[in-house]
Amino acid sequence: MPDRFHPAIRLLHWTMALLIVAMLFVGVAMISTAGPAYASLIAVHRPLGIAILLLAAIRLAVRLATGAPPLPADLPRVQQRAARGAHILLYLAMIGLPLIGWAMLSAGGYPVRLTAALTLPPILPQDALAYGLLRQAHGLIAFAFFALILGHLTIALIHGFVHRDGVFETMGFARTPVRRPEPQVPEPGVPEAQEPDEPDAEPDETPAS
Ligand code: HEM
Ligand code: HEM
Repeated sequence: MPDRFHPAIRLLHWTMALLIVAMLFVGVAMISTAGPAYASLIAVHRPLGIAILLLAAIRLAVRLATGAPPLPADLPRVQQRAARGAHILLYLAMIGLPLIGWAMLSAGGYPVRLTAALTLPPILPQDALAYGLLRQAHGLIAFAFFALILGHLTIALIHGFVHRDGVFETMGFARTPVRRPEPQVPEPGVPEAQEPDEPDAEPDETPAS
């Protein structure tokens, strides 16, 4: 079992984290302005979103091929399942959100222009109702994604700075080996260290008269 994620996964994780957070802010800035900044923001939002879709597909393929380091054996089963569920949701959002963006513009009849020379083909026929639904879904999923990222970040930091159980390091680039606390198993033949006996009662400081 590897003790860290594959280097390509680690590189993609941190590059994509920056891109995704930037995209969330660009999206919010976009819908908060009707001025000339709108055109420049959407011109960044479309190609960056499609780049995230491509990177997520590559990442998923590498992840399925190379696996993941084990979580600490003493992490409760419910937390292991929650971590797995959250990671699946993060992957779904990384792939689903850009696809919904692309589908939404297709249904609205808008060109999905990435650069002056490259426009993607529509992936849905023009349909005003579908456009409206996908537009709403894109906004709702984006905010759910943001909340999930905040939860993920909080838990990652708790592992890194409170539990210090080596989970944070599995996504890091430090050269030191991932440190997992050893389970406390007594060596055969060596008697277990005993806690000093508690005195039965506090020594009576006042001498008996
Ligand atoms: C847009 C933001 C982020 C996304 C979409 C994201 C997504 C993911 C996913 C899907 C995994 C599972 C590993 C894999 O299969 O690829 C993961 C693991 C991890 N992430 Fe993130 N992440 C984000 C931001 C962050 C941030 C800001 C931190 C820390 C401050 C962080 C720390 C970690 C750590 C320590 C792991 C490995 C431990 C584990 O398995 O939970 N991530 N992340
Ligand atoms: C990970 C990728 C993406 C993220 C995180 C993201 C995020 C966002 C956010 C936060 C908003 C504002 C939501 C609202 O309140 O309604 C938004 C709006 C929008 N996004 Fe995305 N998006 C992504 C990918 C895409 C892609 C690939 C496209 C198109 C190819 C796209 C097209 C749009 C459009 C057209 C709007 C609405 C602009 C408006 O109504 O003025 N998005 N996005």
